[in-house]
Amino acid sequence: MVRRLRMASGLVLFAYVVMHLVNHSLGIVSITAMEAMLGWMRALWTSIPGTVAIYGAFLIHFALAFYALYERRTLKLRPLEGLQYFLGFSIPLLAATHVSSTRINDTFLGGDGSHYMTVLTGLWYVQPVNGIVQIALLFVAWTHVCIGLRFWLRLRPWYVTVQPVLYAAALLLPVLAFLGFLAGEREAGMMLAQDPDLLARILASQARPAERPVINDIALGIRIALLGAIIGVLLARLGRRRRQRHQGVSRITYPGGRWIDIPRGLTVLDASQMLGVPHTSICGGKGRCSTCRIRVRASPEALPSPSAEEQRVLRRIGARSNVRLACQLRPRGPVDVSPLLPSPKAGRNRYRPPVYAEGGEREIVILFADLRDFTRLAENRLPYDVVFILNRYFQEMGQAIEAAGGYVDKFIGDGVMALFGLDIASAQASSQALAAARLMATRLDDLNRALADDLDAPLRIGIGIHAGPAIIGDMGYGRSRSLTAVGDTVNLASRLQVLSKSYGCELVVSEEVLRSAGLTLANATRHEIEIRGRVAPTIIHAVTTIQDLPVTALPARAEPMPAPAIGLTDSLGVP
Ligand code: FES
Repeated sequence: MVRRLRMASGLVLFAYVVMHLVNHSLGIVSITAMEAMLGWMRALWTSIPGTVAIYGAFLIHFALAFYALYERRTLKLRPLEGLQYFLGFSIPLLAATHVSSTRINDTFLGGDGSHYMTVLTGLWYVQPVNGIVQIALLFVAWTHVCIGLRFWLRLRPWYVTVQPVLYAAALLLPVLAFLGFLAGEREAGMMLAQDPDLLARILASQARPAERPVINDIALGIRIALLGAIIGVLLARLGRRRRQRHQGVSRITYPGGRWIDIPRGLTVLDASQMLGVPHTSICGGKGRCSTCRIRVRASPEALPSPSAEEQRVLRRIGARSNVRLACQLRPRGPVDVSPLLPSPKAGRNRYRPPVYAEGGEREIVILFADLRDFTRLAENRLPYDVVFILNRYFQEMGQAIEAAGGYVDKFIGDGVMALFGLDIASAQASSQALAAARLMATRLDDLNRALADDLDAPLRIGIGIHAGPAIIGDMGYGRSRSLTAVGDTVNLASRLQVLSKSYGCELVVSEEVLRSAGLTLANATRHEIEIRGRVAPTIIHAVTTIQDLPVTALPARAEPMPAPAIGLTDSLGVP
């Protein structure tokens, strides 16, 4: 209900602001055009339904803003959220004088201040500082509106498509309004210059002299009331905090053993922010996006039942009973939690060798991996679920590759390309690539177990590995530039991955890799394939199940290696 009220009231205010800005922009044409549109705007917003809508929306929106400020358990805000609060509370402070000298003056004091000529004259030729305040108000109000709309719309699947158009409109409208405002001011100035008595007549019609101090007092009253309300909410928060101290604390424990004690009433997302644990929360903790979902382990008394709204979101993602939304869960006792969606930062590949930036040819081992039947998996799923599953998959595969000593070149759709041997000999690189394949399979098994309730069928991969000469270098354009490899070796490795599908096996590895690693595969099927440009056929080996690789025959891992991403050790000796 709160969310719907906030959205409905916000949309009414949005319509009002947009019409106001369009009206301002007509100043580019003339003050007469501004007045013409203002005529029917007044008819709309001063009608009984219009008055109820605009005052109702304003009161509801502000009341909900105070409520949200009170309800927040921590004032540690993300930058955009903080900006939205700041701009939102600045609007009445900046608009107080304008509102009291126009709408309030017209409605309650018998004045006639709601004409563009009157407003422009008052702002620029009586109290110019108010003109500057009004321009600031224009941009403050519009920025607040745009941030709110973005928070609301960015969860829609079509948002990315229409984003460029929305951005263009968001920039164009205030600029046109600003230019219209300036053009109107210039025209008003010319009219005042032509008629020396005009200013006096306008001021006389705007308000009776006796009412002018009243208008200023009302503006001051609005500002004092707003500041008083903000201080009141902050004091209420302090009071609640003192009460909470007596209600005890809940210990939130994260994977790896990090923990924090939080006062009862705070959410797990609050705890993550206080502890500095990266925690995805795309909707900003409003319980809409499900990206803050966590797996919880606690006694039933420590876990309050999910609200109807939280249940609806959890049902939508088909969550198990031990999955909750971190932004909605306010534990009543100790809870072990593990965020299910990797934080945006976690996905970044921090292992990026600085060598070969200028390009060079060297022996390298290339690994390609691809998710089987991903298209079918993505069917009938919410985009967020697909992104969630893919990101978990990429995280596990990326960590497995890095743990084995490889470099994640890129993620291509649902596939992965990795390089081994950027700074070590090819024999060690081949061993690393095979170790990575095995670790990837292990990680995938773990992931399938973790996502058993989210998947219709377990995720399966096909991997191709080949070794040979390739050109290594920093390639791409702009921010998409990165270290990568090109050449026949890369193409053949990719082809082996495709062949793993045809052979119905998990791994296809070339003879070169096995020979270089000093490995013989008794339980693999040998094939010979023709490669264009090669006289002799290329020998490859199809391994039905990667876990069948004879681990004891693999040489020990090479140095240097990146730091292990997790504390697992398998029989390959790979951390
Ligand atoms: S942050 Fe969006 S649902 Fe929790």
